[in-house]
Amino acid sequence: MSDSRIPGFTSTGSKRPDALFGAGDEPGVPRRMTRARGCRVWDADGREYLDYVMALGAVALGYGHEAVNRAAQVALDAGVVGPLPPVLEAELAEALARRIPWLERVRFLKTGAEAVAAAVRLARVATGRELVFGCGYHGWLDWSQGRAEGVPAGTSAVFAELPFNDAALARGMIRDAGSRLAAVVVEPLVVSEPSREWLETLRAETRRAGAVLVFDEIKTAFRIAIGGAAERWGVQPDLAVLGKALANGFPLAVVGGRAELMEHAHRTWISSTLATEAVALAAAQATLAVFEREQVCEHLQRVGTRLFHGLHRLQRDHAERVVGVGGVAAMSFLQFASEDVSRAVAVGCARRGLLFKRTAYNFVSLAHDDGVIDRTLEILGEVLRDA
Ligand SMILES: Cc1ncc(COP(=O)(O)O)c(C=O)c1O
Repeated sequence: MSDSRIPGFTSTGSKRPDALFGAGDEPGVPRRMTRARGCRVWDADGREYLDYVMALGAVALGYGHEAVNRAAQVALDAGVVGPLPPVLEAELAEALARRIPWLERVRFLKTGAEAVAAAVRLARVATGRELVFGCGYHGWLDWSQGRAEGVPAGTSAVFAELPFNDAALARGMIRDAGSRLAAVVVEPLVVSEPSREWLETLRAETRRAGAVLVFDEIKTAFRIAIGGAAERWGVQPDLAVLGKALANGFPLAVVGGRAELMEHAHRTWISSTLATEAVALAAAQATLAVFEREQVCEHLQRVGTRLFHGLHRLQRDHAERVVGVGGVAAMSFLQFASEDVSRAVAVGCARRGLLFKRTAYNFVSLAHDDGVIDRTLEILGEVLRDA
């Protein structure tokens, strides 16, 4: 099997061996997988691993969840795509609005990056302005890449980074930008919880500036709460973007929000051939039902807290190697003293059958239970003793 046909080894950058295990060709770490079930994964050599990468947060119910697979199979048997938009599209829009009332109108897309780009386009159309502030990661598309290679200077010139969780700075930046500002797009949680003051400042100042507030809830929706940070902290954006765990790994993302803003979709062109593909829509419908029926966010919070407390104990016991614990219960990571230590721990874990990310974030799922968490902490303890 040749890997050289794919520049950079894989099409999903964060799954590169060097991203997961550090630079160098470490023996004994998995590079490609063949299947996944629950919170377990099997590599190309048939070795089994306990997993916390969870498809980079795209899976919160566990891999291959039966109810989701059943719904997907029905859609598969019904033809996947066709000449007309599927009934499922309208049904899912309705179900999402019932559960997340600020999604008065939605559009579906396939990737998170596309959905955030759609929110930015809508904000630019609605305001007639170009400048956008971003906070966090919003995907690979031009508008949010700053000065990256290949991005036109004119595109970088209408984008600036807004630091996370600094209310005074946010107020200053938004007031300085004034009537040039189309949107503020934030990941509401970056490494630590946001302060209420920051969220409320963003809400008040964007309103005052006539700019659109977008919450990029790609990682946080269907995880810290079904409605994400907006639900958890009670601050409503004008537009929200959902993805990842929304369809438990099937490719789907949503941009949604206030009806009057979303109606601007008629004035521009936001569309994709496979946005109405039915398997992912069916998977999302089933995922939402499981989340509601089985109180999934409560489970993630409970097992995540068990893990989080364990990580703090490990930090106290290995303070020379672990300098902190980042994230929140449902998505967390260890902060290591050096790149070398982080690499040694990730490699050591993999050799003992545990895939534990060395940077943000490790994700728990409905398939992680107390026994799995305790075994994970045991392995991490052994690896840290040897690192
Ligand atoms: C907060 C956030 N926004 C946007 C994206 C981009 O989503 P995708 O990789 O599906 O394009 C990601 C992906 O990690 C993300 O975490």
